[in-house]
Amino acid sequence: MHTAIISGTGRYSPEKVLTNADFERIVDTSDEWIVTRTGIRERHVLNGSGGFSGSDMATSAARVALADAKLAPTDLDAIIIATVTPDYRLPATATIVQHNLGAGKTAVMDLVAACAGFIYGLSVARAFIVSGMYRNVLVVGVEHLTSITNYADRNTCVLFGDGAGAVIVSRGTSEDSESGILSTFLAGDGQYKDLLHIPLGGSKVPLTPETANDPGRFIYMDGREVFKLAVKEMADASERVLAEAGVSPEQIDMVIPHQANSRIIEALTKRLRVDPSHVYKNIERYGNTSSASVPIALDEARRAGVVRKGSTILSVAFGGGLTWGAALYRL
Ligand code: ACO
Repeated sequence: MHTAIISGTGRYSPEKVLTNADFERIVDTSDEWIVTRTGIRERHVLNGSGGFSGSDMATSAARVALADAKLAPTDLDAIIIATVTPDYRLPATATIVQHNLGAGKTAVMDLVAACAGFIYGLSVARAFIVSGMYRNVLVVGVEHLTSITNYADRNTCVLFGDGAGAVIVSRGTSEDSESGILSTFLAGDGQYKDLLHIPLGGSKVPLTPETANDPGRFIYMDGREVFKLAVKEMADASERVLAEAGVSPEQIDMVIPHQANSRIIEALTKRLRVDPSHVYKNIERYGNTSSASVPIALDEARRAGVVRKGSTILSVAFGGGLTWGAALYRL
């Protein structure tokens, strides 16, 4: 059994920003409602940011993570891209990122687990490393959520932003025995698939000329129901990874959770009995970037010195599927 360590992190956010004041001009909403109900003040959006696509954002974040890990693209054995907004339905965005990076003939795969996608990717990467199959795996959470956002639906459009976050998961050496990914937990419950989904445009219900402008091609979410389930399952997933690793909540240096809603994060913090000063929040500047949110926050926290070598971190996420998961790791 090998140790799976996080050897590098990176992120990319589009330059263009939409503020709550911008949304006051788009739908019937207010800065006050958005801030008090969600904690969001602004989000980065790809459209109008220089013709970039999801694979370009992923490539940019990956380059930063590779430099941080002091690795060349050719050192990678596998590329996992967690996304619900691939550039194309075929091929996988991972193949495009591989080519952009010049990574050679690595294994390439996309992973669809919505906001939990990065935690899923981290867990799969860890399994590849621990088993001895691979030495370096790139995991990117990347979303162009504004491409599937209905700007006529105030229930959802104020929530989402675009971006990418990347980590390199590597085989540790004997010096890394105290660090690395300590435990992960993944789960899902398909009975709730309709609470958060895109009804149209898949192979089951393809878009037709008659439905080309139907709002069913965008994200639908029953926010209230998702909220309740999110708090319960994120707390449960967190408790499981802590128990598996034999770590108590007081030993966590920082919780870096999915940034979907400040109130979800606050409810989770209370349930876990973690001091709010040990919880990283950047939702006010990014909104919900789905699978990109945890790795963006992790990279930001590392570069700001909020977490450092030796920090014990709990990351937990919840999203469409429904899917959820948690990971406990030490830098
Ligand atoms: N501005 C003003 N009013 C609004 C807005 C808005 N932008 N959006 C909704 N409202 C109104 C509603 O119409 C409703 O009015 P009504 O009572 O007259 O019907 C009222 O505000 C309350 O609506 P709720 O849906 O109950 O509001 P809630 O407090 O639940 O907040 C939110 C909504 C922010 C979506 C919240 O439910 C939430 O964060 N849910 C979970 C999101 C999440 O975690 N998703 C998973 C990840 S996303 C992914 O996987 C892609």
